Amino acid sequence: MRNINENTITAAVLDRMAECPSPRLKEIMSALVRHMHDFAREVKLTEAEWAAGIDFLTATGHKCSDKRQEFILLSDTLGLSMLVVALNHAKSAEATEATVFGPFHVQGAPQLALGDDISGGAKGEPLFVNATVRGRDGEPVADAVVDVWEADAEGFYDVQRAGLDRPQGRAVFRTDAKGRLWFRGVMPVAYPIPTDGPVGVMLKATKRHPWRPAHVHFMIQAPGYETLITHVFRGDDPYLDSDAVFGVRSSLIGNFASRPDGVAPDGSRQAGRFHTLGFEFVLEPGPH
Ligand code: BEZ
Ligand code: FE
Repeated sequence: MRNINENTITAAVLDRMAECPSPRLKEIMSALVRHMHDFAREVKLTEAEWAAGIDFLTATGHKCSDKRQEFILLSDTLGLSMLVVALNHAKSAEATEATVFGPFHVQGAPQLALGDDISGGAKGEPLFVNATVRGRDGEPVADAVVDVWEADAEGFYDVQRAGLDRPQGRAVFRTDAKGRLWFRGVMPVAYPIPTDGPVGVMLKATKRHPWRPAHVHFMIQAPGYETLITHVFRGDDPYLDSDAVFGVRSSLIGNFASRPDGVAPDGSRQAGRFHTLGFEFVLEPGPH
């Protein structure tokens, strides 16, 4: 095939993949090529612009490390992560909605006992979380593995703090026989996603703010149920309608309450302001 032009190149590339043995890979690659070519034709992409695009993607890769995932951040800020979540979790009305995973989950967080404090000394006003995990028919989900992670009062996750040698604001729990989960943490605050990399450059260039509304992350896994990856948001946050990563769902706004001081749900006396959060998670039946 010779003398290919801007109108025949797409078919030429698709033809070249005719023998692809995996139908799904062929479908994905063909659609990717078609949409990329249509994109370049639509905006009449110049060589300088495409070189800038390649530089941007190269810088995105260079920014990645075992503590930083700039490609997840890029996918999140372009709405692709939330689109993929929405396509794959069109659940029944009762089940808790999923949202973005984000780049700050860490495998192997400390396994704590119900009632323990996940903060590990992180700054923040005390938050007492009382949640339940049940199935769609109301059955309690006992022994579910629940990963929890959150930022501190300054809006940083532990992995963003250079030199910190222990986990803060993260833990793994197991629900009790009645599907209950309770623990102590810190009151979440709104925070900006990291802007010291290519994604920050992109946000600035397109005049976008980097803020996420205050939330606590949960990942809940139990045999016989679909794994749920979600957040619970504060309802009083000014960024609920402009989340930098498009992750807010009204159904995920938690029941937060605040007290100036007094006796906390765990029986401890709190000299200063503290907060409580109640939430019921409902899992969809399905493969683990
Ligand atoms: C997060 O909530 O941890 C998060 C999600 C997407 C991008 C950055 C952070
Ligand atoms: Fe977060």
